Amino acid sequence: VITTIAGIRAALAERHSSASAPVRVALVPTMGALHTGHVALVERAAEIADVVVVSIFVNPLQFTDPSDLARYPRDLEGDLAKLAGHGADVVFAPEVAELYPGGLTATRVTAGRVGGLFEGRSRPGHFDGVLTVVAKLLGSVGPDVVLFGQKDAQQVFLVQQMVTDLDMPVQVEVVETVRDHDELALSSRNRFLDERERRAAITLPHVLEAAESASDRGIDAVLAAAQSAAMGEQLVELDYLAIVHPDTFLPVDDGYTGKARVIIAAKVGDTRLIDNAAIYLG
Ligand code: PAJ
Repeated sequence: VITTIAGIRAALAERHSSASAPVRVALVPTMGALHTGHVALVERAAEIADVVVVSIFVNPLQFTDPSDLARYPRDLEGDLAKLAGHGADVVFAPEVAELYPGGLTATRVTAGRVGGLFEGRSRPGHFDGVLTVVAKLLGSVGPDVVLFGQKDAQQVFLVQQMVTDLDMPVQVEVVETVRDHDELALSSRNRFLDERERRAAITLPHVLEAAESASDRGIDAVLAAAQSAAMGEQLVELDYLAIVHPDTFLPVDDGYTGKARVIIAAKVGDTRLIDNAAIYLG
């Protein structure tokens, strides 16, 4: 476990200089509260790189609600136990003052138009905070490849956009969503669901399945099928449901056919959950 930027740079410099062949470094950025979904990223990283760095940092810049930040689970010991045996070499776990000395940075990365939609609409500034910390982690660690989960589809899109727009010399590797036995996407927030809410939460994957089954009948049919699957569960309050184009992350136009992604966010009790699935609109 390394807690300083100087420390992580020195450790990686040492690995580079003591190796006879080039050392490929992977970074898996996380906010801790690790579960099997995070572990899948680490295992994939170990397959494609020589050194795997997992960062654990609850980034205050990306929280728009102070109570959400306050209740975000923090358990470094538990996280280290979860990581054991899955191929992580170094855990980079800086304090807030290490990444943001003198308060939150004056310089920010802005996510642009897509940053204000969907997740960004309910959480203004969220994606600027995500991209700023990801840029800082890439700058601190200097990995060859950085891994993200498809579960956060808008985050994946915006990180890829930043890496392209700012000419960052890193490969972005995306890992499929890891799901529970009943298809609910694993999330650090699932622990906030009580028994009834946990049962109701499977509405999200059900909506995605309904959308998928209707996908050869066009956009309107997909939205209608998804919306009807979303209704009827009183504990679930739909925030957004949309079909977006993979290249732009903007809602697809009427009559569009081809690859698309269905994205959904809903509140289950007090807990906000998101999910998404790739579809092919026929
Ligand atoms: P966090 O929510 O901890 O997620 C860390 C990574 O794990 C993200 O890339 C996320 O998409 C991935 N992940 C979460 N649940 C997953 C699942 N069920 N299957 C596959 N991957 C999953 O996302 C963040 O942290 C932060 O925004 C961060 C990128 C670390 C910047 O602070």
